[in-house]
Order: sequence, then structure tokens, then C-alpha cells
Amino acid sequence: MSSVILKPITDENREECIQLKPKVSQEKYVASNADSLKKAEKEPSSRPYGIYAEDVMVGFALFDEEPYPDDGYFWICRFMIDERYQCRGYGSAALDEILQHMKNFTACTKIRISHVPENTVVNQLYKRFGFVETGEVIHGEIVLDLMV
Ligand SMILES: CC(C)(COP(=O)(O)OP(=O)(O)OC[C@H]1O[C@@H](n2cnc3c(N)ncnc32)[C@H](O)[C@@H]1OP(=O)(O)O)[C@@H](O)C(=O)NCCC(=O)NCCS
Repeated sequence: MSSVILKPITDENREECIQLKPKVSQEKYVASNADSLKKAEKEPSSRPYGIYAEDVMVGFALFDEEPYPDDGYFWICRFMIDERYQCRGYGSAALDEILQHMKNFTACTKIRISHVPENTVVNQLYKRFGFVETGEVIHGEIVLDLMV
């Protein structure tokens, strides 16, 4: 598996993060990173991270580091790899890093994630990491759980 590390988004790398984009055909699958960073400011439980391969930011993730206040779960809210860096194993490596990171929080007994129904690539990716569909649909998105 490719190797990546997570680095917090700060004033130094915020603009670089905003420049990262999925393919045009994938824009319906994930909000822009600018939008996600605004969301992060309003959501006290979640933290934004750049996904780095060597010194290059190749993607972005926003996930809970404490239980989401509305439902008490740990959510992976946003996850993307820039179009220039997809299909090199970075998405799989990043998901592995994110899950290892979240599992360190003792309150984290279940990780939740959701996706647009037609995003079959990510559905397969999540299931390979042990996520299971719950049957719930929230805001039109399929919800998957991973028991920790
Ligand atoms: C989903 C996403 C993060 C995967 O990132 P990635 O770096 O391409 O992932 P990887 O290279 O690790 O590939 C993961 C698997 O997906 C497959 N895959 C990736 N892109 C694919 C594509 N366009 N079509 C078919 N399969 C694809 C890979 O072949 C691989 O499968 P394998 O492990 O069986 O070989 C990336 O496509 C993305 O950012 N998509 C847009 C945003 C998005 O959908 N985010 C999720 C919101 S819930």
C-alpha cells in the first residue's frame, strides 16, 4: 500500500487544501474543500487534515475526534483525493491512516461514513475496510458503520 501521512490544516496549508479538487464527474460526490473547511469551523467535534504523500498534499479529510454532539458517533465527514493523484493507492492508504487515528480515541466504538448512492467506487473501498451498510439513508446518502 502507498504511504501517506495526515497533517492538520493550518493557516500555512489552507490555500493549498482549497486548490485540491476531484474530477469534474465526481463533484457531486463531495463538497468543495473550501466548503468543508467552513463546515469544520462550525463543527467542534471534527478536525480537517491534509493527506500527504512525501511533501505533497494529495487529498483532504475531515473527521470527528470526539463524538458528534447530535448523535454521539464518530463520523468521517469528508474524504477526497485530488484528481491528479487518484488511482495510486493514496485513497486506501489515507483511509487506513484515518481509521488508525480515530481508533486511538477511547470513546470511539463505532465509525460512521456516508456516500451518494451512485458512488460505487467508494462503497467498495469502504467495505474492504470492514464498513457495513446499515440500511439507513441520511440526506440521500447511504450510511455505513465500522465497529471498532
Ligand atoms: C474515492 C477516492 C478517495 C479514492 O481515491 P484513490 O486514491 O483513487 O484510491 P485508491 O487508488 O486507493 O483506489 C482504491 C480503489 O478504488 C478503485 N478506483 C479508484 N478510482 C476508480 C475509478 N475511477 N473507477 C474504478 N475504480 C476506481 C481502485 O482501483 C482501487 O481498487 P482496488 O483496491 O481493488 O485496486 C477518490 O476517487 C475520490 O476522491 N473521489 C471523489 C471524492 C469522493 O467520492 N469521496 C468520497 C465521498 S463519501
